[in-house]
Parts: sequence; structure tokens; C-alpha cells
Amino acid sequence: MCGIVGYAGKRDVVSVLFKGLTNLEYRGYDSAGMALRDDGEIKIYKTLGKLINLKNELELKKNEIHHPTSGIGHIRWATHGSPSLVNAHPHTCNCGKLAIVHNGIIENYKELREELIKKGCTFKSQTDTETIAHLVANEYSITKNLEEAVRNSVKKLQGAYAVCVMHKDVPDVIIGARKHAPMLVAIGEDENFIASDTPAIIEYTKKAIYLDDNEIAVVTKNSVKITDTEGNEIKKNIEILPFEPAALSKQGYKHFMLKEIHEQPDVIRNVLNGKLFDIDAPVILNEVKIDADTLKKLNKIKIIACGTSLHAALAGKYLIEDFAGISVEVEASSEYIYRKTTTDASTLVIGVSQSGETADTITAIKQAKSKNSHVLIITNRPDSNMARLADSLIPVNAGIEVSVAATKSYTAQLISFYLLAIHFAEIKNTLDSEFLKHLKHELIQIPSKIETILSDLKPIKECAKKFSSYKNFIYISRGINLATAYEGALKLKEISYINATGYPAGELKHGPIAMLDETMPVLAILIPGGITYEKILSNCEEAKARNAKLIALTSSDDTNIDSIFDIVLRIPKVPEILSPAMTCVPLQLLAYFIAEYLGKDVDQPRNLAKSVTVE
Ligand code: AGP
Repeated sequence: MCGIVGYAGKRDVVSVLFKGLTNLEYRGYDSAGMALRDDGEIKIYKTLGKLINLKNELELKKNEIHHPTSGIGHIRWATHGSPSLVNAHPHTCNCGKLAIVHNGIIENYKELREELIKKGCTFKSQTDTETIAHLVANEYSITKNLEEAVRNSVKKLQGAYAVCVMHKDVPDVIIGARKHAPMLVAIGEDENFIASDTPAIIEYTKKAIYLDDNEIAVVTKNSVKITDTEGNEIKKNIEILPFEPAALSKQGYKHFMLKEIHEQPDVIRNVLNGKLFDIDAPVILNEVKIDADTLKKLNKIKIIACGTSLHAALAGKYLIEDFAGISVEVEASSEYIYRKTTTDASTLVIGVSQSGETADTITAIKQAKSKNSHVLIITNRPDSNMARLADSLIPVNAGIEVSVAATKSYTAQLISFYLLAIHFAEIKNTLDSEFLKHLKHELIQIPSKIETILSDLKPIKECAKKFSSYKNFIYISRGINLATAYEGALKLKEISYINATGYPAGELKHGPIAMLDETMPVLAILIPGGITYEKILSNCEEAKARNAKLIALTSSDDTNIDSIFDIVLRIPKVPEILSPAMTCVPLQLLAYFIAEYLGKDVDQPRNLAKSVTVE
């Protein structure tokens, strides 16, 4: 949700900022802008819509840009104020000497704005960010010290912010400050960077300092100083970032989403690596600090998450209950926060998040921590805010996910839940040892079985072509694949804008069946040999009797359903309990190819952003 990059150093400033914003564009694409220190001035360029428009604008104005020595850039996902040019960042003050970019939401901006208007500030935009620009300028006019002005200003802000500030009178100094929104300072040689996320800088350096809340960074090309809001200097560790620049290239695929779908076999191998390598050995989860005693005292587990991560949580609930016999509740983070009585010291709270920055989940986790619950975080970003709140951690190691629609992070989360449920079962001794071995053996086979799915995309492409003109879909299943139905439908909604609903197959007859006719395809996920198969098949017959077109997603050993279904998609044979790690793949691909046929912007669907850092 918005992206920030700042740079002071020896390279071509426009190229560094542009590259950084390109690598952050998945976080928002309503508008983009840059402020450059050039010819002793602060020059601001902004455009509406995608980053390509800013590139064209900079090309058009290249004669007026000479040798910038530092700059800040921003891509926006609109929250306060519509996506318009006037609301695009950077924002400035009355005199135009100051430029500011901001991620987050300032909750008291209206009060501050009124005070500043009384002091003579003229506001041009509807954004909360412009308030910070006037506030800092106002403080600077009193203190004549930019660092102090930023410190005094942030003390007056309520809400969330990661801000970068530069001022004409303070050459080549970029000041960054954060609270409840991520920000890091990346260290180079004769150059330093500020960014809201690692992809912005990973092509230049792997050394970074993560700012914590209420910290301020004063950055020039040769120096980095971190202080608290009182100006006391803080010694911070320089960390080595775990990511490779290759993660940010499409590597020959048309879209990041397609590349990330194809990465899933290796991602799963990565998740299993070091945790499950021998079917006779227990699962090892080094960073999960829950022993037999703690497990015994637990009266329930609560899993909180949003979107795709919430769907992984639904499968996780099923697995933990089934393998370890512990009662699990799953709740959307944005709803959990209103539940006063459900969490206490004997509840294990599991937060699931690809980004580790989702505001709804962070708020929920903080609430759980305040009730003394042990908090376990499953995330793709062990460097995130959420991971820093964790008592226990499962890093899912999926690598940077660029496509806004989550795919590989979902399978990595699912596999993490398999490992966690087995781990709990091994501690509690709740599973038969032969079944456990069989489970582990099958789990290890999943990557190569997904490779089989990916080796023949023809049936999925044909299905996509046949069904791309339908306006509504229902995805049904029962048991553990209900999560797959929800996730498959979400994928289709997100990237093709087709109305798709995931529904428990048994609930169809309690209402939604009224909608069924030849215009509403029903996609059923059913695995032969499983405990839900026969009943899902009956529900499909009911749908067929109402003339619905039927698509089956089943396994290769299901031989007698072709006469009932219009199209049958198959995955390799797999036990039902493990099938969600595979059934999600054809559904990701189906959504992808339908969106492709419809000419949609697959990697950056409208109105969405990769990490949602507002509640
Ligand atoms: C997934 O395709 C979506 N973009 C979205 O639902 C996402 O899963 C949700 O916003 C939660 O994000 P998180 O996993 O980073 O917390």
C-alpha cells in the first residue's frame, strides 16, 4: 500500500528512484511522483496512474533535469483523497522548498489541518500527507533545523506513517521517520537509501537497518544517523537482507503471477527443507517455542488472517483439529478485534500473513499480545513488523511475491500448517505412527506432483477459454478443500473481476441453488477416496438438475465422472487430506488464463495493492 524510496549518492538519481518504484509498484499504482534535488532546487514531478506515465513525463522534461544529487519517490494507493494529480505525492508547503512522501494514515490530520490553515498554510490536496508537509515547514521556520522540525512534527501525529522529507535549504539530506508503517535504511558505498520495502533497494545493496517505531533516520550519501524522537542517537544493527534480485524479474514468463505459480514446487521444497527430511524423524520447527507443557495447558487455538492467508488458516484449522485434536477457531483479523472475550493466556494465537505488514492482522496480534496469549506468526517476511511481534515464528520462505494475487505464498502457508499440525501431533502423540509416516511420505511427494500439473496446461487453458465469458461462478467443496473453494473463487474475482463465490457444497441446497441455471457454472473440488467425495458428487447432481454447467477438479484416479461434468480437470492421485496443496494450483491457473483471455492487468488488478497497511 504505497511505496517510498529515497536516494542520496553517486548514481543517476532518477534511474535509482525509478527502479526502486518499479520494484514497489505492486504496492500501489494510482499515481507516482518524485522530488529531485537539482541545480540547488527541489523539482517535483508527478503523474496519475501507473509508473509508466511518470517515466514518460520525466522523458518529456529531461531537458530541465540536469544533475540531481538526491531525491525521494512515491507510488500511491489512494486512501485519503481520490487518485488525482493534486493528491499524488510528493507534497509540499506554501514556499515549495520542502518535499515529502508518506505511507500510512494520519488520524488527526483534520485537526492539524485546521490549526495550520489558521497559521496561514494553503492546502492544495485532500490528503492527510499534505498536513505533514505544512507541519514540518512550520516547525522548520521556527527551529531552522530540519531534523528538529521533523522530530517536533512527528510527535504531533496520530496514526501510521513512514515519511521521507527533503528541504531546499538542507542540501542532499533525506530524513525518514516511521510509526506503524515499515521503513528501512539501506547502506551502500558513497550512497545510501531509504525505502518502505526491500525490493526497492535490493539491486544495489543487501545491507540494511530496519527502523523501529518512533525512530528517525538522517541520511546523506556518506552518513546515516538514527535517533529517537528526543534526538538521542540509537545504535542499530546492520542486517543482511535475505533476498536475491532475481526474484524481481519475470524470468521469461509473461506475468509475475505465472512465474510465481511455476515456482511452487521449489517453494514447497524450501519450506520442507530442514524441517521434514526423513519420514522416520520428527518435524523440526526451531522457532516454534511451544513445548508439551504449553500445549497441554492450551484450551484453544485462534488463527487470525486476511484474504488468501485467511483461506490458508481455514485449512490449518482443519489440520490441527484433525491431527492434534486441539480446538481451533479462525477469524478475519478485521473482525477478531471486536471480540472481547475469546482470547486469554491459555489461547495460542496464530497470525498468518504473506507480507507481515497487513494492518488488520497487526492490530489483532497486538490485541492478542495484550491478553498474554502466546503469538505464533506464519509469514513470508521474517523481517516484517508482524514477525517482530512473534513469540514463535514459521518463516515460509516463498521468496518475494510480486504479483498482487498471492499464489506461492499460499502453498507455502499451507505446507507450514501441515508441518505445524504434525509437530503438535508428535508432541501430543495423537497420530498412529504408520499414518504419520505415510503422511510425511506423501507430503514430500507434493512438489513433483505439482510439477506434473504444470507440465500440461492445455486442459486448464481450454477450460479457461470455454468459461471466460461467464459472469458468475460458484466454487464448491466440503471438508479441507472448502478452503480451496474460497481461495479459487478469490483468485478469479481478484484478477478477472468475475463474480465468483466459494461455498460449502452442502449449503448449496439451503439457498444459493435458487440462482443456478445454465449461466452459472459450478466448479466442484472432490477427491476420490476422501470422506467428502460422494456427498459432493450428490451436490453436483443437484446442480446439474438445475442446468448448471459443471467443472470438476479431481484426481487422476477418478474414472467415472466424465458423464456428469462438462469439463474435468485432474491432479495426480493424492490423499484428500493433503490435496489442498495441489488443488489450489489448477485454480490459480484457471483464474490466470481467464484473466489473460479477458485482457486484464493480471499482476496489478484494479483497486488492489499487495500489502494493505491500513485498517
Ligand atoms: C491475495 O491474493 C490478496 N492480494 C489478499 O487477499 C491478501 O491475501 C490479503 O490482503 C492478506 O495479505 P497478507 O497475507 O500479506 O497479510
